[in-house]
Amino acid sequence: MYLHGTSKINDHGHLEIGGVDSTKLTADFGTPLYVFDEALVRQRCREYVDAFRASGFKFQVAYASKAFLVKAMCRIALEEGMSLDVVSDGELFTALEAGFPAERIHFHGNNKTPQEIEMAIDAKIGCFVVDNFVEMQMLNAIAAHKQQKVNVLLRVTPGVEAHTHEFISTGQTDSKFGFDLGNGSAFKAIQEAAQLSNLELLGIHSHIGSQIFEVEGFQMAADRLASLAVKVRSELQVTFKVINLGGGFGIRYVAGNTPLPIAVYVKAITDAVRENFSSNDYPLPEIWVEPGRSIVGDAGTTLYTVGTSKDIPGVRKYVAVDGGMTDNPRPALYDSVYEAMLANRATEESQEVVTIAGKCCESGDMLIWDLSLPKVNNGDILAVSCTGAYNYAMASNYNRIRRPAVVFVKDGQADLVVKRESFNDIVGNDVIPERMKLTSTRV
Ligand code: LLP
Repeated sequence: MYLHGTSKINDHGHLEIGGVDSTKLTADFGTPLYVFDEALVRQRCREYVDAFRASGFKFQVAYASKAFLVKAMCRIALEEGMSLDVVSDGELFTALEAGFPAERIHFHGNNKTPQEIEMAIDAKIGCFVVDNFVEMQMLNAIAAHKQQKVNVLLRVTPGVEAHTHEFISTGQTDSKFGFDLGNGSAFKAIQEAAQLSNLELLGIHSHIGSQIFEVEGFQMAADRLASLAVKVRSELQVTFKVINLGGGFGIRYVAGNTPLPIAVYVKAITDAVRENFSSNDYPLPEIWVEPGRSIVGDAGTTLYTVGTSKDIPGVRKYVAVDGGMTDNPRPALYDSVYEAMLANRATEESQEVVTIAGKCCESGDMLIWDLSLPKVNNGDILAVSCTGAYNYAMASNYNRIRRPAVVFVKDGQADLVVKRESFNDIVGNDVIPERMKLTSTRV
């Protein structure tokens, strides 16, 4: 397993993260346990902020909170000078509860409800990223009713789709998100937004994909947004102050993943915006981006306790851990791959190839196929790396399994930031109707 950030093997032959021995973490907090290397999260935030500072552009780096949001994470984002991208009332509520400044919150989503819009306007958030015509009219009407003017970006589908090493220029009309550039609906949306008196149109947004290892897709998106901006300025006399290029910057999950340094993505983006805008005599806009995975992904490690195993001679050996698709649904959902090691026997040679299964009552509940490990024993601690993004955030209570605790580790200290769910959390919202009182049972 590749050791990210402060992770290392200590003198006891144990995996240590943030200066804390993983066996102490599991003894103190139990398993499964999400462990975040706080220094690495902060380092990733700083890599973005420093690279944008160096570019000379005005900027906002909005952490895409869908990747992992808890109140303590909001504090880190705030302390590191980030803005925050939220996509639901739940994320907005979390941020506000944590004291995140509303003016640095951007609200995304393809189906914001009237209640969410009201909540966000009342909180005086910094910006709505408007996704479609229905939302635009609704937002304007609610803002008018509240006698407010709200900042908006319009989400444009630019016809660039990027994923790891591939990026393709597509018509991409068939997306649930945003105003299509190719069929003219983006231009129409801008025309409409510019006329709505309770909307302050700041600019346009695009998000081209996720886990991207190349800069070309971002450059192509910048080019297309710039062309749209130039057309809009000449035909509608509207000048954009902000260009938002979304998130999607890749991370190293396993050998063979080759993300670029964050500074390289940022330089490519700032250079592309400078080139495309200044060549058209367009005042340089602010650049906003929305990284999620690349802020928290490689800072997260999940610790499990090994339970049972099943050896099918000549076929496969399954080793089961005390979590699975409930705390990490990504292998089941996307065939995602992960690296792992025995955290309590980190210096021992590999001796067998096993498949790591979860404990859910479902054959698809697999975490890692064909993993080389020392001979695995019941009670060993399995560490799976790179689980910081879209793991806790996508965790479920399937099989009524309680969601794990989350700890932040730094400089030898471990702090609980989310408690392990209790049985009461599992049944706390259940209601037994009066007519089902434990009186009349058919025997
Ligand atoms: N901005 C927008 C508008 C987005 O839709 C997303 C991710 C981001 C920013 C952040 O992208 P990132 O930097 O994290 O790649 N559940 C999937 C990922 C879904 C991403 C959805 N949108 C997974 O586990 O891989």
